[in-house]
Amino acid sequence: MICIILGTRPEIIKMAPVVRECQRLELEFMILHTGQHYSYNMDRVFFEQLRLPGAKYNLETGSGSHGGQTGRMLAGIERILLAEKPDAVLVQGDTNTVLAGSLAAAKLGIAVGHVEAGLRSYDRRMPEEINRVVSDHVSDHLFAPTEKSRGILLGEGIPDGKILVTGNTIVDAVQQNLRLAEDNDALAAHGLVGKGFLRKTAHRQENVDDPSRFRGLLDGILQLSRETGLPAVYPIHPRSRKRIEEFGLDAGDIKLIEPLDYFEFLQLESSARLVLTDSGGVQEEACITGVPCVTLRDNTERPETLDAGSNMLAGTDPGKIVECARLMLSRKGKWSNPFGDGKAAERIAGIYT
Ligand code: UD1
Ligand code: UDP
Repeated sequence: MICIILGTRPEIIKMAPVVRECQRLELEFMILHTGQHYSYNMDRVFFEQLRLPGAKYNLETGSGSHGGQTGRMLAGIERILLAEKPDAVLVQGDTNTVLAGSLAAAKLGIAVGHVEAGLRSYDRRMPEEINRVVSDHVSDHLFAPTEKSRGILLGEGIPDGKILVTGNTIVDAVQQNLRLAEDNDALAAHGLVGKGFLRKTAHRQENVDDPSRFRGLLDGILQLSRETGLPAVYPIHPRSRKRIEEFGLDAGDIKLIEPLDYFEFLQLESSARLVLTDSGGVQEEACITGVPCVTLRDNTERPETLDAGSNMLAGTDPGKIVECARLMLSRKGKWSNPFGDGKAAERIAGIYT
């Protein structure tokens, strides 16, 4: 029996193809939700839209400090693993849920499979980097999305026999949902026209919890919007919404909207003229859907997007954001997708048959 542990928006989206594949292969599995994300539009909406079976357990961990949140999840996951005795645990990505899930299972001697293994920003100030490194090193099956991530794992001394290059399940998710996304009316609902707007997202702790960095990335987008005449729309993560209010930041003409469901988001993403983001998944999706991307960070654990030419790193300096955006706007979106063929989930679930 496989226990699939997840807890946040990107994990639900990127694990959905694996869940589907487990269903198709009639593998015995259950979903354990940590409840790290809990607002309807950060959690349940994706279960409903992607038609996922409900979680057998939800720990309702909620928000908190890193130690407090991870600790509560660790204890809760251990309790359930002891009761359910799964043969394997699957986690995806780099959140606190992944750290708690992989650690709890590894300490109980349960085989851990890490989906999206081998990503590195080499920036230990990011909570996600610590989670990635620890999870990779306690995992038994490392599902690396690319040869590059496999190389990183080998370089850290992880035996080749534990690593399988699968592609990233985000390609599976985009392929399964993009056509469905085209049918919804998010563009019209937000008064936008295809290829006539800038789409921004930002929620990373190192950006939005720092008032000067957050101010910088708002200013960069405002300047870009004025220069290009393109309106900017920002589906805003609850963490970022809170910080805007707390720091008294003025987003000017940037259109702040609530987080979108996956179909709406994919439609706005694939129809944008340019995507500006600090999200990991969005850098990948922009690359896959052929939309130029400017990343509002100083580094990325997705260097494949830089190599492909779909993405540039701008940090949070307004001048640099505008400069990178000008360059990316002149690119034609003709790069190849480095993240696989949309069969990642098949390869991952395949090892459990
Ligand atoms: C987490 C991950 C991050 C990932 C992101 C995906 C960690 C360390 N961070 O960041 O890597 O990119 O999820 O979106 O695991 N909140 C709500 N409703 C929710 C969830 C959060 O209002 O459903 C608000 C709360 O005010 C909370 C804040 O957002 O304090 C941050 O939530 P948290 O789960 O701690 O981290 P994220 O910023 O979501
Ligand atoms: N996403 C969404 N609605 C939104 C914002 C993002 O459905 O309003 C999706 C997006 O398509 C991508 C994933 O959420 O698949 C990325 O999650 P997020 O940016 O929260 O986290 P990260 O990838 O940075 O960990």
